[in-house]
Amino acid sequence: MSPAQQIARRRTLAIISHPDAGKTTLTEKFLLYGGAIHLAGSVKDRKAARATTSDWMEIEKQRGISISSTVLQFDYEGHAVNLLDTPGHKDFSEDTYRVLTAVDAALMVIDAAKGVEVQTRKLFEVCRRRGVPIFTLINKCDRPTRDPLELLDELETVLGIQASPINWPLGNGPSFRGVFDRLSSQVHLFERMAGGGAYKAPVKVASIGDAALRAQLDELSLAAATEQLAMLDGAGHAFDLAAVHAGAQSPIYFGSAINNFGIELLLRGFLRDSVPPAPRHSISRMAPGLPAPTTAREVPVAHDKFSGFVFKIQANMDPKHRDRIAFVRVCSGRFTRDMTVTHQRTGKSVRLSSSHKLFGQERETVDEAWPGDIVGLVGHSEFGIGDTLTEDRSIFYDEIPRFPSEVFAYLSSTSPAEAKKYRTGLAQLLQEGVVQSFQVRNAPSDTTLIAAVGTLQFEVVQHRLRAEYKADSRLSPAPWTLLRWIEPHPRLADLSSIVVASGVSFGHDKFEQPVVLFPNDWSLNYFVEKNPELRLHTLPLEQVAQSGSGQSAQSGANAANAV
Ligand code: G4P
Repeated sequence: MSPAQQIARRRTLAIISHPDAGKTTLTEKFLLYGGAIHLAGSVKDRKAARATTSDWMEIEKQRGISISSTVLQFDYEGHAVNLLDTPGHKDFSEDTYRVLTAVDAALMVIDAAKGVEVQTRKLFEVCRRRGVPIFTLINKCDRPTRDPLELLDELETVLGIQASPINWPLGNGPSFRGVFDRLSSQVHLFERMAGGGAYKAPVKVASIGDAALRAQLDELSLAAATEQLAMLDGAGHAFDLAAVHAGAQSPIYFGSAINNFGIELLLRGFLRDSVPPAPRHSISRMAPGLPAPTTAREVPVAHDKFSGFVFKIQANMDPKHRDRIAFVRVCSGRFTRDMTVTHQRTGKSVRLSSSHKLFGQERETVDEAWPGDIVGLVGHSEFGIGDTLTEDRSIFYDEIPRFPSEVFAYLSSTSPAEAKKYRTGLAQLLQEGVVQSFQVRNAPSDTTLIAAVGTLQFEVVQHRLRAEYKADSRLSPAPWTLLRWIEPHPRLADLSSIVVASGVSFGHDKFEQPVVLFPNDWSLNYFVEKNPELRLHTLPLEQVAQSGSGQSAQSGANAANAV
């Protein structure tokens, strides 16, 4: 197969959802269709492993999930699908956000009885910021659902994306009988299956006027569906592939993952309408050892030189594999095992010998990979999140997304004898991007202010310091719940001139960009009201500039809660 064919057949996606909407179930059903049948039915094992408490063992299991299933690759009807799994627990959202930088599309799962939930909204925002196409499964249609038109309306108003239903549910809850495929004008009848649909569901196809359908669907449901479909045809958004590719329209599928119903329609539709690996943007940046900065440009996926970036680092908690894996998204060229590339942040040459594909608990050596693929590189303590690896030194990716932290704490060493090990370990973990760190005025001495999306990330830091660096640490509370980056302004030279509520502090991030920390929404709103000339952002300024989006969150409680 030629390089162009290899690239064209690849699809790299992540599934996003609020916990319990059915992400795990859908993942496993995809694997079932992709031929990895032995994995289907293990929902329960993974479910058991999902952390819902802050107990350490639970975290370990949680990490276990994300290690064992980080990238699932399967073939389906000629396509090579890379499905990037994301941790289910909200405290690991930052991991999820980063994984989303490595995909070309997202599949959003929504519980038909609940609609758009908090976590869906946050993850959706991260995808939208990157403009990736978003496909939607409205799941659990075998159970009573909310009015489907109301669900579409919610997608449009809450998420601000056009919803274009590809198929439409017939009946609701106990009377659910299937979906009408608007593209083919055919009906796919639903059959409840024993055992939660462990095998491919048989799909019977009939026309909308089919007597067999009328025999199955009660009159009320048929009348409702007919009326709804007429409304959609008249007033709904027509399917617009260009809008889908631009991330402005989401194709909507109704189905039931547990029953395998509608899943193959979704997978086929996704593969038909999604995009192959998209070119990435290389920025202008001074890389060590180069005489001049790299030039900003799009790097074509078909470029003959390999390039990729690290989007996730996983320290393995499994005692059998106590090591560290950097996950690299291949962006251009062909990856081959043992190749020598440049690690652009340090300018050093590195040989990529220990390359793996991770599937379930298994590790398989990867000899070759193409744009869209993910390679796990074992060892390489020098790699950090966002680092570029390339054969072409003129490429420098800037895929280091940072996200607004929601929890803050001071970390310190517990013993002077361990201080050196503690400092080395913490520096390494910060470089990896396990948590963010900030400098604030008047911080207690010998502490580092660390920040994350969820407190379990702090526990991971403490555990890793102990396990990998033999350094105990102490965590003490810090009084803030919100952080904003602030645009440069002459008034920042004299902080006493800025009116703030009590408990508000000024500081800066590791790139010396100024930040303001707030104890609560009220103090943030007060700041905005009293200092209208100072502009606050939920993201670091360079990210705001890149996204060019409304992330310029001049605050207010709503913006304060935005991702
Ligand atoms: P998540 O990864 O998004 O958190 O969700 P997961 O797949 O674990 O699904 C959450 C619950 O919803 C599970 O039930 C799962 O069986 C159920 N579920 C998933 N898809 C469907 C569907 O199409 N219809 C119905 N009725 N249920 C569905 P559970 O009781 O929490 O776990 P289990 O005992 O079934 O494993």
